[in-house]
Amino acid sequence: MASTDTEAAWAALEALGRRAGAGAIRPLFAADPGRFPRFSRRAGDVLLDLSKTAISEEVLAALLALARAADVEGFRDAMARGEAVNATERRAALHLALRAPAGTPFSTGGEDAAAEVQATLAAMRGFVGRVHDGTLRGATGERFTDVLNIGIGGSDLGPAMAARALWTPAAPLRAHFLANVDAHAWEALRARLDPARTLVLVASKTFTTQETMTNAALVRAWLAGSLGEAAVAGHLAALSTNLPATAAFGIARDRVFGFRDWVGGRFSMWSAIGLSLALALGWEAFARLLAGARAMDEHFLAAPLEDNLPALLALAEVWHVDALGYTARAVLPYDERLARFPAHLQQLEMESLGKRVTAAGLPARRATGPVVFGEPGTNAQHSFMQLIHQGTTPVPVDFILVANPDHAHPDSHRKLLANGLAQAEALMRGKDEACVRAEMRAAGKDEAEIERLTLHRVFPGDRPSVTILLPRLDAFTLGQLVALYEHKVACLGALWGINPFDQWGVELGKQLAGHILPALEGRDGEQDPAAAPLIAEILRMQGRG
Ligand code: F6P
Repeated sequence: MASTDTEAAWAALEALGRRAGAGAIRPLFAADPGRFPRFSRRAGDVLLDLSKTAISEEVLAALLALARAADVEGFRDAMARGEAVNATERRAALHLALRAPAGTPFSTGGEDAAAEVQATLAAMRGFVGRVHDGTLRGATGERFTDVLNIGIGGSDLGPAMAARALWTPAAPLRAHFLANVDAHAWEALRARLDPARTLVLVASKTFTTQETMTNAALVRAWLAGSLGEAAVAGHLAALSTNLPATAAFGIARDRVFGFRDWVGGRFSMWSAIGLSLALALGWEAFARLLAGARAMDEHFLAAPLEDNLPALLALAEVWHVDALGYTARAVLPYDERLARFPAHLQQLEMESLGKRVTAAGLPARRATGPVVFGEPGTNAQHSFMQLIHQGTTPVPVDFILVANPDHAHPDSHRKLLANGLAQAEALMRGKDEACVRAEMRAAGKDEAEIERLTLHRVFPGDRPSVTILLPRLDAFTLGQLVALYEHKVACLGALWGINPFDQWGVELGKQLAGHILPALEGRDGEQDPAAAPLIAEILRMQGRG
């Protein structure tokens, strides 16, 4: 049950959202061109600019009052203390422990989580060192040149995103990621891999996920078929919480890197699940990634709410979703290396916040997680930005900009940044009828043509965006960026009163797939009338019906 204070804070915020012109940003800038310093904050390398939202001093005060009433700081501290903040599963969510330096105390359920993390990191580091120095080699005596991570969801997206973001020509190994149970993915990868030089990681928290275990069996058969059964064990390692299942798969105990159930899949790239990163990028890069996340953790744990970047990012979301009714958000990294960052956020945010029941088991009284989608800029500009500029409902945008590139083409980078900044400005400023008419007149259009096209060419403006600016993209800044969003998710869990750490919504489809599979194998079984005709059509097209 929400407290009276929380309900009063929600009511105050919602009243602000209902006021005429609540979503207008231009008047705020007109009244106060110096909004930027008042509505931007820094933490470490991250600059967060909220000035191009309709958050005024009054709205910010209401949002902060809500954060206090919802006890965002209390939820944060309970999470850091290892309490069972994942209430439905009665588990901690202790990803903070994964990136804390040795000696930082973290425990949960009477167990010393910190000691276990350090022991796993030491084992991972030893393994990575032996692969890189050639002590561990493939069965034919060749050095490993490629690492293949087989996993899906949280056992794929974080490492796949970071491997792409941080790749350099000097990377010690090439990284590949196999997620989809669609074997076209494996066939495409297989054509590029030499089994003699490929190290395979089976990454699965549960070690039961259908897609991962199916792909693991395919890849295992490929290794056995090309190198012989005896060679397989030397090419495999596992990243999992399920030690009995990894043993049953034939993976030697000293090649299993474990973690605990208090590491959620979508928060797991810092755990043993990050082994592909350490192998592909080098231990130093992986350690810097953890250090970057730790820097953001320290900020999150210590900064007051009004300066706390994750809390402010969460509050901007509440303003947009609940007060203004904007139920989608786009994430546009203006850095090609972050091409998979929106995909990572899709899982992190939508699997965490797509909930319609509160942690206490009651129907949620307000809209919760928005739809999150994205693409790197500038590609997005030539794809879905039309809707964001001129569609019927505003879609807030996160612009992620990186000041300094790691290439020697400053002209390209200036154009990239100019486009990102221009999109944010265009969304906010828009272009009114008078301006459109004047532009067309200046271009020599006749009045009929001006009349015909004016409305089509108007941009409504007042479309919000936040900008996140990093000085450069490296392991340390990427760690900060990812942790910023992780903690934003935790704050939103507290604000909406939902459990951001479970994901019951993924279960039904898995159950039904298990029921449908025998029918596709040609075995009889009663099927739902919604599925049965399509199953029959598929069997007919396969020549089996
Ligand atoms: O999609 C559901 C889910 O459980 C995710 O939360 C998780 O990241 C993914 O499947 C993979 O699970 P596992 O690591 O157990 O294979």
